[in-house]
This record gives sequence, structure tokens and C-alpha cells, in this order.
Amino acid sequence: MGRKLNVAIVGATGVVGSIMRRLIAAERGNWGEVRLVASARSAGKRLEVGDEVITVRALDADVFDGIDIAHFDLPDEVSAEWVPVAAAKGVVVIDKSGHFRMDPEVPLVCREANPEAALVRPKGIIANANCTTLALIPTLAALNAHFGLQSMSVASYQAASGSGKEGLEALYAQSQKIAGVDRIGTEDGDVRAVLGEEFHAPFGAPLAFNVVPKVGGWKEDGWTSEELKVRNESRKILGLPDLKVASTCVRVPVAVGHSQVVHATFANEVTVAEAHRVLGAADGVELVDDPENMVFPMPIDSVGKGGTQVGRIRQSIDFPNSLEFFVVADNLMKGAALNSIETADLVRRELEAA
Ligand SMILES: NC(=O)c1ccc[n+]([C@@H]2O[C@H](COP(=O)([O-])OP(=O)(O)OC[C@H]3O[C@@H](n4cnc5c(N)ncnc54)[C@H](OP(=O)(O)O)[C@@H]3O)[C@@H](O)[C@H]2O)c1
Repeated sequence: MGRKLNVAIVGATGVVGSIMRRLIAAERGNWGEVRLVASARSAGKRLEVGDEVITVRALDADVFDGIDIAHFDLPDEVSAEWVPVAAAKGVVVIDKSGHFRMDPEVPLVCREANPEAALVRPKGIIANANCTTLALIPTLAALNAHFGLQSMSVASYQAASGSGKEGLEALYAQSQKIAGVDRIGTEDGDVRAVLGEEFHAPFGAPLAFNVVPKVGGWKEDGWTSEELKVRNESRKILGLPDLKVASTCVRVPVAVGHSQVVHATFANEVTVAEAHRVLGAADGVELVDDPENMVFPMPIDSVGKGGTQVGRIRQSIDFPNSLEFFVVADNLMKGAALNSIETADLVRRELEAA
């Protein structure tokens, strides 16, 4: 191609967009122009990308002129409308919303599992999986390659920032309100007495000092959208359409870092020592597993880290060929921004070589 590609971050003012700016700054030399886009509310804001200060443009069709690759970090309904506009202009779109992920003509890419899928994109669109799924995939892909993954049961402990700026700000506001009272309510622990209805958004209930067993919207038969995403997106990325998945997604009062408890069953026999060997060498996985010395993955240690962390690996006592383990990833990094940066790298190399 002979020139540096131009890249846009669409949704540059959001929590994921802010990490995108940092990651693009770290590889600034790879790109020509970096363009920042958000809603009309943010037009004219000046934001830093490394040493550069770039003025945010309001989303319209013209912002895609001259752009080669666009990272979309927008709410679902806004992506649904604007991704096709960018793609029609020949831009390769990497979209983090849920809207296109299960479209059979849109690859769902995670470098550690299916990097080749990024190169086949009939609609010019690549989807980034949801943050909970992406936290699992590097570990699952490595174990599947060696032992043949057959089923998994997952329980998530998801951070407030998974709900964007609004979620993070809500957790801080609720925590500050509670920190200002000597005793919580009339009886210790009565959080509802302190956090009234005005603190219910966006989780549907107070999150500070609480856990909320609902992530995403309600779907048929009592499932949430997030739980179905874990099932459907894992199947698609791993290329295992018959993978059996049970998932329960829970929001916890953590700022950043999604954790998951996993029970996984394999076609072949697996031991902890073998799992350690495989995961210790796996791309995108950090083995953090020395529990007697209090060494295991935790969300507070995941913040800003690339990849995913796995630990507490045990052989199931009552289930053959099965492991129990704990996985953590920064939902804004591998769960969002880092994964799409890694996908863009695959596309950039392809386009530059063309
Ligand atoms: N948070 C996570 O852990 C995570 C993980 C994986 C995927 N995702 C996905 O990534 C996307 C962004 O999430 P986020 O958490 O960064 O959300 P966020 O903090 O709420 O940011 C949303 C961004 O979208 C922009 N936006 C909203 N409405 C717009 C409109 N009508 N036109 C143009 N821009 C508009 C906002 O711009 P203004 O500031 O101008 O309003 C802001 O830049 C979502 O699709 C989300 O599902 C998030």
C-alpha cells in the first residue's frame, strides 16, 4: 500500500474509547491520521492521544472519508445505524457493540482463537465479542486445543465499568453516599435505607455493598442477554457450535475487571499439571496459581493488564475429565479495547501487504 493507514475511534469519549486512545498512542507510529469521533454533545472537545491533542468530531457520514480502519465503541443502536454507513465507504469496521456479532457474514475475532477469521469479512465488518466472553476465550482456546472442550458452566462477577461511563459513575456515587453515613440505615447492613430509588440506575438496584444477578436485558425463559452472549459468542469464536454452556452473569461492586468461575469438561483426561503446562505456554494467558501463597487472579490486579489471568485450577472431584478454575480480565482491555487493537493489527498487516 505504501502509506500509513488512517484510523478512527468512534466513541472516543467513552470508557472503552479512553482506553482505545491510550493503546493507539502506544503504537502511534503504525498509523497515519488518528481521528476521534463521538456524539454531537462532545464535538469540539480536545482529547489527548499520547502527545497529540485531537479535536473530537460529531458522528456523521463525512467523518469516515479517508479512514481505513474504524473502531466503533458506541451503544448497540448507534452502531446498528452507523457501522453500515462506514462499511459502505470501504472502511474496515471493528465493532464492539452486540449488534453484528452473530451475523454469519461478520467474523467474531479473538486473536488467541481464530485470527484467520479477521481476513474474511464479506460485509467489511468485524465484531468484537462481549467482555465476559473475551475474558474466557484465551484459556478455553488453549485447553480446547489440547483436551477437547465439551461443556462449561460459568458464573461471572462483572465490574460496574462493563456498563460504561454511567455504570462506573453510579458505583462511585453510591459508594460515596454510603461512606458518608456512620451506620448503614437503622440496622447495620441495610443498604436500601441509604440508597433509595434514585440510586437504581443503571443496574436496576443499588450495586454498592450488593451483588445484582442480572447483566443485560431480559430474554426468553428467564435468561439475560449477557448469559446468552457467553454461550453463543463462545461457540462462534471457538468454532464449537455444539458446545454445551450454562452461564449465570452477576454484577458486583468492582470498578474494573470481570471475574468468572468456570467448570469445564473435556473429551480427554486432564490433570492440573497438564493444564498448568498448557496454560503456562498459552498466548494471552497469564497463569497466576500459587494459592497457598495467596497468589491467584483478582480484578484489582487485572486493571490495565493485557491478556487474561487464570488460577485456582483444580481437578473436579465428582466429574470426570473436568477442571474448576477462576479467570479474570480487565473488561476494558482484553474484554474490549485491547482485543480490537489486536484485530486491527491483523487487518493493518493484511492491507499494508496488499
Ligand atoms: N465497558 C465495557 O466493559 C465494554 C466491553 C466490551 C464491549 N463494550 C461495548 O463497547 C461500546 C462502548 O461502551 P462504553 O462502555 O465505552 O460506553 P460509554 O462509556 O457509555 O461510551 C459511549 C460512547 O458512545 C458515544 N455515543 C453515545 N451515543 C452516541 C450517538 N448517538 N452518536 C455518536 N456517539 C454516541 C458516547 O459519546 P458522548 O460522550 O459524546 O456521549 C461515548 O463516546 C458498547 O457497544 C459496549 O457494549 C463495552
